[in-house]
Amino acid sequence: MLTKAYSSLVLAVDVLVALIKFVLILLESLFRLVFPVEQKSIKNEVILVTGAGQGIGRELAFQLHSLGAKLVLWDMDGAKCEQVAKEIKSLGGTAAAFCCDVTDRQKVLELAKQAKEQVGPVTILINNAGIMPCKPLEKHSEQDIRKNFDVNIISHFWMLEAFLPDMRALGRGHVVALSSMAGICGLPNLVPYCGAKFAVRGMMEALREELRQDPKKPEIHLTTIYPFIVGTGLVHKPKIRFPTLLGIVSPKTAASSIILAMRRNQHEMTIPRALFHMNNVTRMLPQKFSEVMRDLIDSGCDSHE
Ligand SMILES: NC(=O)c1ccc[n+]([C@@H]2O[C@H](COP(=O)([O-])OP(=O)(O)OC[C@H]3O[C@@H](n4cnc5c(N)ncnc54)[C@H](O)[C@@H]3O)[C@@H](O)[C@H]2O)c1
Repeated sequence: MLTKAYSSLVLAVDVLVALIKFVLILLESLFRLVFPVEQKSIKNEVILVTGAGQGIGRELAFQLHSLGAKLVLWDMDGAKCEQVAKEIKSLGGTAAAFCCDVTDRQKVLELAKQAKEQVGPVTILINNAGIMPCKPLEKHSEQDIRKNFDVNIISHFWMLEAFLPDMRALGRGHVVALSSMAGICGLPNLVPYCGAKFAVRGMMEALREELRQDPKKPEIHLTTIYPFIVGTGLVHKPKIRFPTLLGIVSPKTAASSIILAMRRNQHEMTIPRALFHMNNVTRMLPQKFSEVMRDLIDSGCDSHE
């Protein structure tokens, strides 16, 4: 009888504490709308960017360099990656280039050791490398589907295996993962890509919870990014109905938004920003509403070989 009364009391206290926390969090969020969190310094941080040879990764490398970071640049296109490192060094920066296919677990683990010896332990990891085959599901071969998952999600696990232990040992770090709006909304011609990019979101959310519940409370932040269309050439045939609202973003703008989200330790961010709230609101409404909205927006990408 006494135990039952005691557990009811504990439950009532837990509910009350949670309610008070909800109110405080809401107040803090409102305050942060007006006074955003200060951006952390990344000066002298060792930052590894995958897919740094071109597109968003290349732009990230230059902007991170201008903020004083030391760079480790990985790409399966060694020559392009080397060129980016060369340009950064000519600007007086620190950049080491490595030719690495991130789907090759052994290579990832081996090069991680080399990078640590050359530049130091990586404290910020940006899993950016990706591919985007764009065609109806039936036209994807078994090889296409496996490759898509290997590059767009499985490789993130090898990168985490290689770099998370050092972050845990240091008690701090940051992992940024490039998902996509196709990791939030399913889109035609992108069925395997959406599958992998939704998985990036799930993996990052689950890892965040695991780190949050870790008794050692490591200061390891996670940021997941969901761009719509960035003008890097990855989307061969973009389809856009409202260019002012949902236009193609330049790699420069995309990179600076990613860095801003990372420096503010934000959990998630869409590019453009408004899409995040639009998606959340739409998903609360009846499903047919979302279909009407999709038909109206009528944007995404057309199939290509
Ligand atoms: N461009 C967009 O519209 C867009 C939209 C949403 C999400 N994204 C995501 O942003 C990220 C970067 O896209 P981007 O537009 O800069 O692409 P991009 O094609 O311009 O550049 C990707 C880079 O990754 C490298 N790469 C590909 N596979 C690799 C592998 N297995 N190992 C190592 N490097 C590899 C390529 O060589 C290339 O240098 C991707 O994850 C992509 O899915 C892009």
